[in-house]
Amino acid sequence: FGSKKAATPSSKINKKISLEKEKVVDTCDIEDMFKGGSLKCVLCRCWKSKKFPFCDGAHNKHNKDTGDNVGPLIIEKKE
Ligand code: FES
Repeated sequence: FGSKKAATPSSKINKKISLEKEKVVDTCDIEDMFKGGSLKCVLCRCWKSKKFPFCDGAHNKHNKDTGDNVGPLIIEKKE
């Protein structure tokens, strides 16, 4: 009761991003998120992207390989 169960390697969601850190926290500058006039910023929620915290489409392979259904968070900006 009240004790946290330690994550085993097989139960970890994050298998490759900044594993040396105790906790992965990213800060995004809102100007950078929409640079170049882009009205959309796509953020990874599958922990597989090579451009983390941004989505690179790696979730598609993950979903195909595992039967999972994860996808990105899309932040849109109105003109
Ligand atoms: Fe992770 Fe797209 S690559 S959500």
